[in-house]
Amino acid sequence: MPSKSRKVTARPSSQRPSKKSQPKAPTAAKRPPNTSPKPKPASKSKPLPSAKPRRPEAALARAQRVETPSAAPVVASKKFLVRAGVSAGTRYPVLVGSGLLSGRCPELDEALSSRRAVLLVVDAGLSPAMIEPLIKRVEARSLRWGVCVVRASEDDKSIETLQRVLAEAARLRLERRDAVIALGGGITTDLAGFAASIYRRGIDVIQCPTSLLAMVDAAVGGKTAVNITVPGEHGEGGSKARLLKNMVGAFHPPALVICDVATLATLPPRELRAGLAECFKHALIGKALGDANLSDFTRKALPDLLKGNQPALAQLVHRNTACKARIVQLDERETSTKPDGGRMMLNLGHTFAHAIETLPGLSWRTASGQLQIGPLKHGEAVGLGLLCAARTAEALKLLKPTSKTALPVSIELERTLRQADLPTVVAGLPPAETILRRMFDDKKVDAGRLRLILPRTGGLCVVRDDVPAPVILDSIRSIAAPSSN
Ligand SMILES: NC(=O)c1ccc[n+]([C@@H]2O[C@H](COP(=O)([O-])OP(=O)(O)OC[C@H]3O[C@@H](n4cnc5c(N)ncnc54)[C@H](O)[C@@H]3O)[C@@H](O)[C@H]2O)c1
Repeated sequence: MPSKSRKVTARPSSQRPSKKSQPKAPTAAKRPPNTSPKPKPASKSKPLPSAKPRRPEAALARAQRVETPSAAPVVASKKFLVRAGVSAGTRYPVLVGSGLLSGRCPELDEALSSRRAVLLVVDAGLSPAMIEPLIKRVEARSLRWGVCVVRASEDDKSIETLQRVLAEAARLRLERRDAVIALGGGITTDLAGFAASIYRRGIDVIQCPTSLLAMVDAAVGGKTAVNITVPGEHGEGGSKARLLKNMVGAFHPPALVICDVATLATLPPRELRAGLAECFKHALIGKALGDANLSDFTRKALPDLLKGNQPALAQLVHRNTACKARIVQLDERETSTKPDGGRMMLNLGHTFAHAIETLPGLSWRTASGQLQIGPLKHGEAVGLGLLCAARTAEALKLLKPTSKTALPVSIELERTLRQADLPTVVAGLPPAETILRRMFDDKKVDAGRLRLILPRTGGLCVVRDDVPAPVILDSIRSIAAPSSN
């Protein structure tokens, strides 16, 4: 597990000081001068060598010997296949375990074996120690490689960063059979996935999510995207540009997903909690997702999960990715017209969340009373969005307590969010009417009608496009801290 912070020692051959300092892995005959894997966005173009890298069998055999597992995994890894491309009928493996990126992972080795070059798109927030084993693995196979470091902010999940990634892929002369490897949170996996979907009209992407949210949600299912900005409208920040989340993207299923929960050891606690919000989303509609006991499991495991217990996290990630996989393989392109919304059900809470997620000037208090200043993390906004959706559903009498003695679901949910130290009310929200207007930017809006995914009694859900505006407005007001009204 990459816990120690040390410098990335693996460098493209052209940047190495001497042969002695190189890792034992066999080196390619010549590699292009790659982007430095230092965590900063940069890539200066240099001339490409014409020589092809050598991949003799003996070198490959030596490479395989180098990759002995560093330590026994904390948890046994689990694997399942996700069907992608309904007509093509391809399947991609999802692996969940501990130490997969730094240790034994035959699926990753196999996925690399058919390539000549890979571009690593790496989250700037990761320690070099987390990136290094992947580079060593790539080097051990004598692949040409480059690194593009991206900052994990919604502002940087942009067309400009996309252009930078594509330019790096082109500089590296990635071909159709080559691949992009995404290593990072959901911003990185979305961005790298989208770049892979359009570079040479589509090359493979191997998703290696390193945040809980990216593992349980973003990396599985093939949705990729970047944000765009549009000029603001009167009354919504004047002429200030508005950021439209995930407005440009593509469905591009990954070739392989590796959820290595060991990487979560360095994830900031606030990010871990934000990831839990997506798990609460799945738990709220567990029956619809094919795991009726997910809610019980999540509630009971919460104290362990908050402590970063790896077996608990691995189980959580496995159950949540399996839930997501079940749904996306039935309705990959989100075209289902079923009352429960098909894949759209995974957007529970997100219409509310997207409308508040990028708002400046929000604040709330953590459980310990500490003032947290916005903007919200995606998962924090999702938690608030779930509350709004649950309260809307209760107002419409769609969602009732699970038993006569049980509390209303929205109250249970509010408690769970508090237990996970996620916000349940925020100060600084604009008027509810403004937020409702922003909700119409949602991609689910159909013929000008807002479609809301709402939870239903018993872990089910339903899509409604007839929810009266006052009901929605009341639910939005319920998440506004008293001072902001
Ligand atoms: N494609 C989909 O289906 C889908 C689903 C859900 C969310 N998303 C997208 O995912 C994004 C949110 O993802 P996120 O919450 O992972 O945010 P993120 O990518 O911003 O990552 C969160 C933060 O954690 C850091 N980080 C990540 N892994 C780390 C690790 N192991 N150690 C230390 N730091 C680490 C990142 O640098 C960043 O600062 C949003 O843009 C959202 O739209 C996509």
